[in-house]
Amino acid sequence: MDDTIQSLQLGQISAVIGAQWGDEGKGKIIDILAENFDIQARAGGGANAGHTIVVGKEKHIFHLLPSGCLYEGKDIVLGSGMVIHLPTLIEEIETLRKVNIDVVPRILISRAAHIVLGYHKKIDAVMEDRRTGSGGKTIGTTMRGIGPTYADKAYRTGLRMGDLIDMSEDELKRFVQNSAVNAQKMFNCSVNSDEELKELLEAKKLLGDRIKDTVTYLQKMYKRGKTILIEGAQGTLLDIDHGTYPNVTSSQTTSTGALHALGLPPQSLKSCIAVVKAYCTRVGSGPFPTEVTGKRGDDLRERGSEYGATTGRPRRCGWLPLHDLERAINLNGYTHINLTKLDVLDAEETIPVYSSDDKFEELKGWQESTKGMTSFADLPEKAQEYIEYIEEKVGIPVSFIGTGPGREEVIMRATQPD
Ligand code: IMP
Repeated sequence: MDDTIQSLQLGQISAVIGAQWGDEGKGKIIDILAENFDIQARAGGGANAGHTIVVGKEKHIFHLLPSGCLYEGKDIVLGSGMVIHLPTLIEEIETLRKVNIDVVPRILISRAAHIVLGYHKKIDAVMEDRRTGSGGKTIGTTMRGIGPTYADKAYRTGLRMGDLIDMSEDELKRFVQNSAVNAQKMFNCSVNSDEELKELLEAKKLLGDRIKDTVTYLQKMYKRGKTILIEGAQGTLLDIDHGTYPNVTSSQTTSTGALHALGLPPQSLKSCIAVVKAYCTRVGSGPFPTEVTGKRGDDLRERGSEYGATTGRPRRCGWLPLHDLERAINLNGYTHINLTKLDVLDAEETIPVYSSDDKFEELKGWQESTKGMTSFADLPEKAQEYIEYIEEKVGIPVSFIGTGPGREEVIMRATQPD
């Protein structure tokens, strides 16, 4: 293990959790850390998440497989809190097969994870229309069927991965036919149940024997001392309970939510890394008090290539809200910060930082390139001051600083022994 990473004492189980509204850039830190952990586990959410994986020379956006899935010999867990759209998962598996990476023998899919069916996506669209029609505000959902699948879970009418192997073909057929009738009656949307059944049977053939009791597996591995990297999806402020409801996703996005979704006890988590953009972005509707509109916001978006990985929508951009970061620290028990995309701020004359929705300080910008830097000492003085200011305000070390999209473009700061 790299000496710097070793000095951070991440322990047997570590979680990487977004501190903002998702899209903080979790993929890169997971890629850096993954080789140090035996098991890569995704806890919740579904194909609403998106992270870029470089396969061969090509970039692909993956939605369901964890970012750490490329490392040979590491088990991959899709946890009980997830909602899985099987054709999307199969497409990701096939993409990797084309470059001779077969993840199937390494995947363990929780029996308790729910299946996203085609009609869930259609209901997402109908619900968003109904919100607008009734004069309400839209959520700006990614239309991946996430909310309706979690709704079926709560109604206790959902289809779980375990059902895929426990039910006969006839039972599955009846299930999709009944769901089609309900979707028609309640949401006036038409569903091709033959197509749904075909997709389910295909997935059963390919993945049937990878559907497991992942809770027992993870608990066993934990007791055996295996290391586990938990990959959070979305971000803390999108959490169904603690986020900016109703403009949230339908799952729990915090570290405690992830532990629950994987069936791991609270004390098993030894470290939790906050992924925090050096500024802030949000895709979709909802409050964003530190948003900056006009040219300055547009410039941030262009410099940071701020377009949603899943939907391609332009992200709204703004400044770092420290009060939200403190709340996220208290919710997640963060031990380290990974500040991403520092270089995007290189051209700013000043860097506004908010300590509440309307109280802010303007720090001086550095107006020099930090692109690709790998040492804290090399950073311009004002950039160092910005980082130290954040550390002082929130009391958590900034252990990783992103200075560009490349894997090597990162500053890792060792924790000094006491
Ligand atoms: P849903 O989870 O697709 O229903 O979307 C609900 C809200 O969460 C919308 O504002 C989405 O844009 C946002 N959202 C969901 N997943 C992500 C993500 O992975 N990154 C950023 N925003 C997300």
